[in-house]
Amino acid sequence: YKADIDASDIEKGTYPHYMMKEIEEQPFVVRKIMSEYSDEDGNMFMDPGIVQEVRGCDKLYIIACGTSYHAGLIGKQFFEKISGKPTEVIIASEFIYNMPLLTKKPLFMFISQSGETADCRAVLVKVKEMGHRTLTLTNVKGSTLSREADNTLLLHAGPEIAVASTKAYTAQITVLSILAALVNNNKNINIFKELSKIAYIMETLCDDKEKYKELANKYLVNSRNCFYIGRSMDYFLCLEASLKLKEISYIQTEGFAAGELKHGTIALIEKGTPVIAVITQENINLNTRSNIKEVKARGAATMVISMRKISQETDQIIIDDANELLSPLATIIPAQYLAYYAALLKGCDIDKPRNLAKSVTVE
Ligand code: G6P
Repeated sequence: YKADIDASDIEKGTYPHYMMKEIEEQPFVVRKIMSEYSDEDGNMFMDPGIVQEVRGCDKLYIIACGTSYHAGLIGKQFFEKISGKPTEVIIASEFIYNMPLLTKKPLFMFISQSGETADCRAVLVKVKEMGHRTLTLTNVKGSTLSREADNTLLLHAGPEIAVASTKAYTAQITVLSILAALVNNNKNINIFKELSKIAYIMETLCDDKEKYKELANKYLVNSRNCFYIGRSMDYFLCLEASLKLKEISYIQTEGFAAGELKHGTIALIEKGTPVIAVITQENINLNTRSNIKEVKARGAATMVISMRKISQETDQIIIDDANELLSPLATIIPAQYLAYYAALLKGCDIDKPRNLAKSVTVE
């Protein structure tokens, strides 16, 4: 499969780290996916057999690990809200011991950047034995999960070298959004228009690096722990944002549903604890804002990533208005940079964090 990879894809060029290169490639990856999944007339297009299979199943079971699992949680929202298809997302290593009751006509979707993750493969082998249909979303053509599943959709993100996944995550979300739109014959969303818009917003966010560096310096470098809070789509984004930060900066970070604060985590807030709130969903805007006030009153150092200005006293990263369902494609960018700069300023090995492997081939 060598011919698919250009030598320049696997060189850092002028970038100090692969992670920064891969963060900045994301707007281009979204556009590349849009062109890979278009027909000659410029309409979004995917293998009709795959689209039909998703349409025809009575429930979609998404199986994945790590960052790919977080993309799956967002994919579930697409399939349920755009295509009206019931969807469950399950961590691969849990599925084996704790298999949910399956519906009559399930379709199993494996999301894996590498296509080699052993926990996913164990599930694939098992559900194939049971006679179920399978689909793999992967960045690596010819990978194990791609060869062994009935069908494959490629991510077209180009090689991802940094251990912490960035562009594969946004590629997964992009491919999932296109598939969900096609399953519903593009009726509920003009996916081409919305993705074009968000790719542009992603680009403008990449221009603001200096600001993220300052914020990482002010809020994160000297912190022992950090919390990301959000609701609905923002909550799923918080899970990935916190994984990025903990993976490469070793700051203990958790992402959780903002409404759960009062049920336990607020006990951990001390003077100076960084709390990053993500607010892109209009219907929960006021609720999460009141959570910011609650943690602030207990001394938290709050920062907001949002689609509109919240208040004067809190540092903010403002995202241009985007489709709410697709907002994670934009909000993840500042979060990836915050992680990058926190790790950089702490002197961590950004591309090869301790104890982690790019692809985990043991169960
Ligand atoms: C490893 C990597 C993560 C990745 C996970 C799943 O833990 O360090 O970045 O999200 O595996 O990998 P996959 O290739 O299946 O997406």
